[in-house]
Amino acid sequence: MPDDHAATSAAQGLASGRFVRNCWYVAAWASELAADTLLARTLLDRPVLLFRREDGTPAAMDDTCSHRFAPLSMGKKLPGDRVQCPYHGLEFNADGQCVHNPHGNGAIPQAAHLRGYGVVERHQMIWIWMGDTPADPAKIPDYGCMDSTDALFITDPGYLLMQAGYELIVDNLLDLSHTTYLHDGILGNAETVHARINVEQDGDLITVSRPIGDVTTPGLLRGLATWESPRGDQIQTIRWFAPSCLLLQTGVTPVGRPQTEGTGFYAVHLLTPQTARTTHYFYTAARWNPLTTDAARNAEIRAHIYKMRTYAFAEQDGPVIEAQQRRIDQLGGAPRPTLLAIDAGPVQYRRVLERMLREEGGG
Ligand code: FES
Ligand SMILES: [Fe+2]
Repeated sequence: MPDDHAATSAAQGLASGRFVRNCWYVAAWASELAADTLLARTLLDRPVLLFRREDGTPAAMDDTCSHRFAPLSMGKKLPGDRVQCPYHGLEFNADGQCVHNPHGNGAIPQAAHLRGYGVVERHQMIWIWMGDTPADPAKIPDYGCMDSTDALFITDPGYLLMQAGYELIVDNLLDLSHTTYLHDGILGNAETVHARINVEQDGDLITVSRPIGDVTTPGLLRGLATWESPRGDQIQTIRWFAPSCLLLQTGVTPVGRPQTEGTGFYAVHLLTPQTARTTHYFYTAARWNPLTTDAARNAEIRAHIYKMRTYAFAEQDGPVIEAQQRRIDQLGGAPRPTLLAIDAGPVQYRRVLERMLREEGGG
């Protein structure tokens, strides 16, 4: 149980629908952005256009023409990193500056310019900064596992559009006790509910670990183990990078043995609000210490991890979280939850989130 009742303050309001803006969000998988793509995506309730400059670097700007509000993503990419509006032909550069007006004397009104956003390609993702303070690439969360792992051990880039606010998905991930119930047999089982939960905070970084000793290994991890026994010590350590990116290290070791003898995967969970009530959910997994050596078998495992995680999120977590969002909305938007011991992680991250929102004037 969280150690004080201050936790039942505003930090527990559910699904606030507010966004922290001065931070990095994932706008897209890097692989979604081909050289000639104009990608339209609503992020933080704002229609954004993403594309690549001729040198390959990503660019982002508002996807709403300043003239009559046509989506630029319906237009054309022109040489010189320009995008032409489909409706009356205004042209914009990669910073959102209007650089050509084919009408009248060709003068460009100051108000024609669009808002551009800081974007960085890193760890196979396109990151965007939509706040008003300078974008600092040093603040991009560390997903180095995506760079240091051989492609054979990284699953396909996954994506789901969830009909729920991002906070409910963070709650889900920082309280993995739900794996016993929602993902019985795949990611948890009746034995794995008995875990010690440990929450640590380092600045705004929150780490929740729940090691589970000597239990029957759930199916997905069992498929990675190379030892005989169906039992093992399970590892679950998840980090929350404010406001909505998470990295879970999950795995299994033979009972009583050190992590160096175990195996598992880093589960990458990247949440970006589309609106207050819908969330872009990007996910993938990178295996750590793979013990299986056969390349064909490893390709099979890679496909299996992707398939089972997609099933777990789309068919097991998704329906419950989306129904939970509908209930919360029916109840007026901010019902108070009854807190349990398993909520230590969610309580702590909500405090940080609330502070960040307050600091930006949105809380
Ligand atoms: S709406 Fe874009 S040029 Fe008219
Ligand atoms: Fe889940």
